[in-house]
Amino acid sequence: MEFWIVKQDNFYITTPIYYPSGQPHMGHAYSSIIADVFARFKRNDNCKVFFLTGTDEHGLKIQKAAEKNNLDPLIHCNKISKIFKDLTKKLNLSNDDFIRTTEERHHKAVTELWNRLVKSGDIYLSKYKGWYSVSDEAYYNVDEVSEKNGKKFSTFSGSQVEWVEEESFFFKLSAWEKKLLEFYEKNKKFILPTSRRNEVINFVKSGLKDLSVSRTSFTWGIKVPNNSNHVIYVWLDALTNYLSALNFPNISDKLYKNFWPASLHVIGKDILRFHAIYWPAFLLAANIEPPHRVFGHGWILSGDEKMSKSKGNILNPLEIIDKYGIDSLRYYLMKEVSHGSDGSISLKNLELCINSDLANNYGNLCQRVFSFVKNNCNSKVKKNNNTTDSDKKLFDQINQSLKGLRDEMNNQNLNNYIKSVINISFLTNKYINDEEPWKLKKTNNERMNNILYIALEQIAKISILLNPIIPNSTNKVLESLNMTAKSINLAFLDKGNIFDGEIKIKELDILFKKIT
Ligand code: MSP
Repeated sequence: MEFWIVKQDNFYITTPIYYPSGQPHMGHAYSSIIADVFARFKRNDNCKVFFLTGTDEHGLKIQKAAEKNNLDPLIHCNKISKIFKDLTKKLNLSNDDFIRTTEERHHKAVTELWNRLVKSGDIYLSKYKGWYSVSDEAYYNVDEVSEKNGKKFSTFSGSQVEWVEEESFFFKLSAWEKKLLEFYEKNKKFILPTSRRNEVINFVKSGLKDLSVSRTSFTWGIKVPNNSNHVIYVWLDALTNYLSALNFPNISDKLYKNFWPASLHVIGKDILRFHAIYWPAFLLAANIEPPHRVFGHGWILSGDEKMSKSKGNILNPLEIIDKYGIDSLRYYLMKEVSHGSDGSISLKNLELCINSDLANNYGNLCQRVFSFVKNNCNSKVKKNNNTTDSDKKLFDQINQSLKGLRDEMNNQNLNNYIKSVINISFLTNKYINDEEPWKLKKTNNERMNNILYIALEQIAKISILLNPIIPNSTNKVLESLNMTAKSINLAFLDKGNIFDGEIKIKELDILFKKIT
């Protein structure tokens, strides 16, 4: 088995860092799994990957959550952040680091970024008067607020807002309007999907106001250098985590040199404004190159509503993992929920998806071919060069499906990618049905070997392609094909084949049980 290095790129990918205000839920799992799939895909495509996730621990929202539990904020954060960290294992995330914004390394990076913004003349002291949502940790304009039953709500997120008047430092966001528009124009894929890019551009074109970047009415945060009455606005603090994890401000550090600017921030559409407007503006002002891309996925809905703690309509990821296994959850979320738009999930659809794609299609393909080869070929098949028209037809169909796969992944079209790969599995199953190798054992052993060789080679390809999505199950299959970790690699997309003429297998246990 050969291993070809096709290219060696560095790829830095991040999840949002999560508020440890309550227990993790499916929305958090969703953001994290999407990022993990891209991280694993890039590793399998010979890139050097750094994958970051973590928790966002400062601000009024967290201070209030700690008060509610009668805990010191840091003790509260230690407790809940650990639950998020444990979840990374349960979701089988391949993250290289887990950052907490209460860590010293983060404090250093935020202070440096602030000092740079002061030095560049982008920060000034004034007074903030306006609406604030603690739940979103966001300021809203008057035209973004509406009234219901005597209370005020953000029309953007639906969360309650309160009136705030306090001394505050401001970031000169308005001065960056033109430069941001130029930046979006030059970097057409900075914001994906395109519908989100348009939303952001329209928002910026409608005029940006300076942004309040410090608070004085509470203390849980990073103090403004030389003015300890102010804590730094939690979003300026939180966004900087992407730099802190690379040991910024030590710009000669290997991590920073290798991985900044970030390749991809995976986020939900609700936090696009912060990542696609504020973040590049802060970075440009501080003379730091902005990230290459922000991908804003849609929401997971339960019925027609966003799944969220406050709405009480949560499907608990841990219960689903216990019952169906992590690969089933990962596959379902990645395939069924279209990443650009919102998607409704339900247990019923999860079960249908497991049965149709995993148990009856990919799982069945692996099981039937492995057990046939074990029982009839002494666990070993050999290829000969006599290919038939039906073999060629299968190769053509598969090559057609393989063609755009790298591009689909590199443009975050995960749903299309999965549909193409599962179609290869469907075609291979059909090929076996049509070729009926079980009829050839006594009459044409050579042809039978060829059919099984072709089927096993397709199984290897499908497993490598599905590996980022369902790593546990595909690793079992690839291990049973005696493939080493090194050969779980997308080189075959360029090279064409995986094996050298003979395939030996080991026993394979059932991968996915059909749900009845
Ligand atoms: N702490 C900020 C992010 C700071 S990043 C520098 C935050 N945290 S969060 O815990 O509220 O949300 C984190 C992510 O979970 C967001 O990307 C959000 O979109 C995602 N989800 C939360 N509920 C969701 C759904 N119901 N569906 C899909 N994702 C949603 O925002």
